[in-house]
Amino acid sequence: MSVREEFDDWAASGRDKGMEERHWHTAKHVLARMPVEESDAVLDLGTGSGYALRALRERGIGRGYGLDGSPEMTRNARAYTDDPDVGYVVGDFGDLPFADDSLDHVFSMEAFYYAADPLETLEEVRRVLRPGGTFYCAVNYYEENVHSHDWQADISVEMTRWSRAEYRENFRAAGLHVAEQDTVADRDIEIPDAAAFPHEGFESREAMVDRYRRWGTLLTVGVAP
Ligand SMILES: C[S@@+](CC[C@H](N)C(=O)[O-])C[C@H]1O[C@@H](n2cnc3c(N)ncnc32)[C@H](O)[C@@H]1O
Repeated sequence: MSVREEFDDWAASGRDKGMEERHWHTAKHVLARMPVEESDAVLDLGTGSGYALRALRERGIGRGYGLDGSPEMTRNARAYTDDPDVGYVVGDFGDLPFADDSLDHVFSMEAFYYAADPLETLEEVRRVLRPGGTFYCAVNYYEENVHSHDWQADISVEMTRWSRAEYRENFRAAGLHVAEQDTVADRDIEIPDAAAFPHEGFESREAMVDRYRRWGTLLTVGVAP
């Protein structure tokens, strides 16, 4: 199944909003760290419902572009705002429809690892960023988060599961400096008492705490030279 087929289905069944709600727990902390300035142009890779750009516009960025391979996702995202300075476009991570050095920042939440060729995508991100521009790349699916390892079984699009070190190595291979790498804990998700387990696919309370409070979201920050 293609990205379009898989995620058009998600958008049509309302999962775009469900993801927004769940991902916001850590995405809001990642977005808060971005050094955006008024009038900056920001790209959101794999924008889904488009919430990240709406939040960044509240901080005064000049222009937001939300790119997604699913036409239904972009159609929904457009319907959630009437802001003329936010645009949602259909496109692929492997061929970004932006000129060299044309963007100040790129953000991505829970999307990067769907790239057919992640190194190529990093090279594209480097190409479109102006010197000093940043890439805030946030993922929940990564090697050290063992609780994510079985996610591929439920998704038809091939996913790349890098370790923290592989993120840093590949950012550097694409010509980006690595400014920061961190895990952002999800402190918002409610974790019930031990007696409630099994719960949401977790056998024990310890496992759920490990997934959300310990591993949370992996953030790697790249800076274009
Ligand atoms: C798990 S969703 C995350 C959406 C949003 N960032 C969020 O935090 O809720 C991943 C998104 O990436 C998009 N996507 C996946 N692979 C893509 C690709 N190769 N090119 C463009 N978009 C892609 C999907 O269509 C989907 O909307």
